[in-house]
Amino acid sequence: MLPLQLQPQSHIPLYIQLRDQLRALVHTGELRPGDRIPASRELATHLGVHRTTVANAYAELESEGLIQGHVGRGTFICAADGTMKITPPAPSSPISATNGAVRWESLFSDERGDEALSRLTDGVPAEGISFVLARPDAQHFPVAAIRQCCNTVMKREGARILQMGASDGYGPLKEVLLDLLRSEGLQLRNENLLITDGCQQALDLICKAFLRPGDSVVMENPTYPGAIAIFAGARVRCLGVPVRAESPDPKVNGNPLASPGVDLNALEATLMANRVKLIVLTPDFQNPTGTSLTIAARRRVIEIAARYQVPIVEDHIYARLRTREKTPSLKQLDRGNGVIQIDSFSKMAFPGLRVGWCIAPENVIERLRLVKQTTDLHTDQLSQATLAEFIRRGWLVRHLNKMRALYTRRLAAIEKALERHLPEGARWTRPEGGMCVWVELPAGFDASELLIHAREHGVLFAPGRYFYFQNPQPNTLRLGFAGVAEREIARGIATLADVLRVEMRKRQRGARRAEVPRVALV
Ligand SMILES: Cc1ncc(COP(=O)(O)O)c(C=O)c1O
Repeated sequence: MLPLQLQPQSHIPLYIQLRDQLRALVHTGELRPGDRIPASRELATHLGVHRTTVANAYAELESEGLIQGHVGRGTFICAADGTMKITPPAPSSPISATNGAVRWESLFSDERGDEALSRLTDGVPAEGISFVLARPDAQHFPVAAIRQCCNTVMKREGARILQMGASDGYGPLKEVLLDLLRSEGLQLRNENLLITDGCQQALDLICKAFLRPGDSVVMENPTYPGAIAIFAGARVRCLGVPVRAESPDPKVNGNPLASPGVDLNALEATLMANRVKLIVLTPDFQNPTGTSLTIAARRRVIEIAARYQVPIVEDHIYARLRTREKTPSLKQLDRGNGVIQIDSFSKMAFPGLRVGWCIAPENVIERLRLVKQTTDLHTDQLSQATLAEFIRRGWLVRHLNKMRALYTRRLAAIEKALERHLPEGARWTRPEGGMCVWVELPAGFDASELLIHAREHGVLFAPGRYFYFQNPQPNTLRLGFAGVAEREIARGIATLADVLRVEMRKRQRGARRAEVPRVALV
């Protein structure tokens, strides 16, 4: 069957999703002229949608001249050279017949919508409190220190920085990073390290290097929306594994199956039932749930992945924001060569410089380097050189220690406020670091609706639906605490709890009303 994946929860109509995915398969060459595509009834059954959904998508593609139906023989992909008659493209042409203007939307390659979380904060008054984003606090950026580093490197090697650079990264940054990573116990050579524009780009490069439309990756569900967008854009099948928010077992460290984080039984079952190309995981302070895998669970993940021979992409972006002692990463625990680790300065320092890195076996790094070359040639050299200087002076460690202490206080403040204010029936995760806490409202609540009321009172958060690529749980939400001062945290959570209580009372009243027996009108 064709590699098609429809998302019923998307606001994009199913027939448009199907039309665009079929069109993409033609453009990528997966479907070639003369190929027969399934009958609408057959495809509808396979996708679990109504037959008219498929019929509407086929009708659009036929009007574009991409497919043609032949009574009794089936529906076929058309050739551009006219081996099959192509319907004139007038109705769907990107050029409007009436005014000659280009209809750009009709040319977009896919159906992605603007679902960016950052848009939630649009139009919020300055005194509003936003828990929407998981970002560092810009008020604490050491701007003067960065300016000093920037001036130094420009004075010392300005011409070199302004010239084109190496696609694997700026040499001095690679050197200081290798020192840092080796001091953490990783046996690395220069050839194991690629500088990227951040973890988002690393995921994109990995996707381009390894995945074709229809391939499958396993990801935590819910997960970081940027990863969902990359794989969806590449027509990759995302197989979701649920994330366990809390451990029911007090002896959790010894029992990997009771670890918070990705559900290991479900992971194994997914690998058993599917041909999977990559497993993408965030073992430390997973975004959005804030959960971390225990050491035992990490060992088990590596064992399971090795058994099914599926490489792991470990997103290590939050790992250095741990309030207590550090847990070894999958990369540190891996005795084979099955882990690609991606990391970045975005959470531990400054996301605006857009610098991150990726560590992997040499042949993987070489392939990713080639892909990067065709993507952006190399990462910005002024950012790389400035960060190298910042690290060399010992200022990154100093900054990180300061921010870790700040975030630890903020985490304690949000836990205290949640404990104190949230009504019974709401549950939340207890991370030991990172930037977010995940809340589960009582069953039946919709966090998107709650946001409408909370917004009226100047408090914002990220509804859970942004983070799911399947089976969204509407009663979930993420609270990003790193960028909110302690006093604001206390005020914001108290307000949110008040709003939630009002909504709960409304629901109770509604339920009671529904219980009153109706008097028959005679
Ligand atoms: C889990 C995760 N991975 C990757 C990214 C993107 O990171 P970067 O800024 O390094 O591209 C984020 C950003 O929020 C994230 O939460």
